[in-house]
Amino acid sequence: MHPQSPLQHNFPLQSLNTFGIAASASAYVRVQSLEQLRATLADPALAAMPRLLLGGGSNILLTGNYAGLVLHLALAGREVLGGDASHHHVRASAGENWHGFVQWTLSRGLGGLENLSLIPGTVGAAPIQNIGAYGAEVADLFHSLTVLDSATGQIRTMDKAACRFGYRDSVFKQAEGRSLIIVDVTFALPRAWQPNLRYAELAQELAGQGQAAPTAQQVADAVIAIRRRKLPDPAVVGNAGSFFKNPLVSAEQCAALLEQFPALVHHRQADGSEKLAAGWLIDQCGWKGRSMGAAGVYPKQALVLVNNGGATGAEVVRLAQAIQADVQARYGVRLEPEPVFV
Ligand code: EPU
Repeated sequence: MHPQSPLQHNFPLQSLNTFGIAASASAYVRVQSLEQLRATLADPALAAMPRLLLGGGSNILLTGNYAGLVLHLALAGREVLGGDASHHHVRASAGENWHGFVQWTLSRGLGGLENLSLIPGTVGAAPIQNIGAYGAEVADLFHSLTVLDSATGQIRTMDKAACRFGYRDSVFKQAEGRSLIIVDVTFALPRAWQPNLRYAELAQELAGQGQAAPTAQQVADAVIAIRRRKLPDPAVVGNAGSFFKNPLVSAEQCAALLEQFPALVHHRQADGSEKLAAGWLIDQCGWKGRSMGAAGVYPKQALVLVNNGGATGAEVVRLAQAIQADVQARYGVRLEPEPVFV
């Protein structure tokens, strides 16, 4: 096989972004091996173009056609490594589907990733925004990852500290991490597995089923059931999951808001700050189920913006700005979008 996969021009991206926005890329390459990735990066004509790394397309909003090269990372492969005394190590290539990988670990009797079931996207994208749900995040189960530095052509391994994980954040979202292309990720799954039922709704779901001591697969099934009830399936209704991050405010600001809005949903953080529920703020502003053009707010979860059919990126942006303005006016809180605007 020739190491460089065919370059395509004016390539349609609608099926490659979960929002289902119709837009095209001026250049597109689907990368299926490390050699192909190196060859593509070494091509002087391609290296000079603006570049978008695309995984599952589940965390981007296309605001127009992309005038540059879309590198679609489709590297495949997964393996169970030996691990150490306390953990099994499992590795997957960047292009593997996240949920498929989680199910694969569970089918091998390896628990740990079950709370992160059904999150759309790929393994390689998971560390970038440190995906999290139902009381767990990637950083909790992370061991290391391999990057190709597109600036130097070097391959290197990065440990957890080097990734600088935060809430929906990592070094890969910062300027110094922008040249790094994640090619595979290794997870450390505890040999002494215990269910993580910190998230009240998940604990209730399992208790309701009479599961006092659930298996990892049973936890996964409960997470899948909750997600199916609350979140739209991107294959049916275009969306990119939570459209805004849950905002962090100071303890003082939270206390002042609570005086005015006693029902305010807030969670104290380790550093004393408070995390507010953006979905609650948006819901209280009356946006749940409302639409502007073909862009709408999902009727069952106000934090999720949806494409009701044929929405443009610009329509979604207009809706997001209207929501931000209302939340700012009523609560004095700025909502920051979670997906990357392209
Ligand atoms: N709420 C409302 N109205 C709404 C939505 C939420 O009042 O329309 C309230 C809920 O009643 C609850 C609180 O807001 O008291 C939090 O809601 P929920 O438990 O649904 O979670 P979330 O904070 O809205 C976050 C993540 C999700 C993740 C869930 C479960 C962010 C930005 N979002 O949502 O992640 O699945 O917790 O852990 O942190 C994603 O990032 O794309 C995503 C879906």
